Amino acid sequence: MRNIEIRQEKTSDYTQVFSLNRNAFGQDNEAKLVDALRSSGNFIPELSLVALLNGEIVGHILFTKIVIRSDTGNTYESLSLAPMAVYRSFQKKGIGSRLVKAGLRKATELGYTSVIVLGHENYYPRFGFKPASRWDIKAPYDVPDNVCMALELVRNSLDGVNGTVEYPDEFESV
Ligand SMILES: CC(C)(COP(=O)(O)OP(=O)(O)OC[C@H]1O[C@@H](n2cnc3c(N)ncnc32)[C@H](O)[C@@H]1OP(=O)(O)O)[C@@H](O)C(=O)NCCC(=O)NCCS
Repeated sequence: MRNIEIRQEKTSDYTQVFSLNRNAFGQDNEAKLVDALRSSGNFIPELSLVALLNGEIVGHILFTKIVIRSDTGNTYESLSLAPMAVYRSFQKKGIGSRLVKAGLRKATELGYTSVIVLGHENYYPRFGFKPASRWDIKAPYDVPDNVCMALELVRNSLDGVNGTVEYPDEFESV
């Protein structure tokens, strides 16, 4: 799909982004999470992106600030990729991939050095994500090991980083 435009989300997009998340996930939880995260201190407006097809929003991706906390109490700033959504009728056409790539590029430009995702092991590796266990980074939730993945936006940025990911409280409601 060549005629896809990716841009930063505007306040006037919020209603459409809510409907999109509800459609993609088949429930309101993730749509409400996006609303809650926008009002949190972890929100980065430049990393809430929408995909438009003929001017209509068909996809959305959000990256928020998180920290990784080691057992010894050291904290490392990182980003969480979550949630992302593409309208059911427009899935598997590459729109999600365009959103991920645009988001990773923007995050790098903004100076972030790594991203954590909890997601499908067959999808995110195509963007360079690797099992987070490689760095001894763990999810705070009881998920299979290969679901928690990390990506270095800057080479070796996760060297020496280990610990448990701390998500903003808003994620507890999902
Ligand atoms: C995940 C999602 C955003 C991907 O968007 P998309 O536009 O379909 O993505 P792309 O077209 O770039 O890539 C499609 C590929 O991802 C795979 N994929 C998507 N979701 C997947 C999942 N949950 N498990 C396994 N594979 C998945 C598809 O099978 C397809 O694989 P292929 O390229 O080998 O054929 C979209 O499927 C979606 O909105 N899903 C529902 C919400 C969700 O689960 N979001 C992710 C968790 S936050």
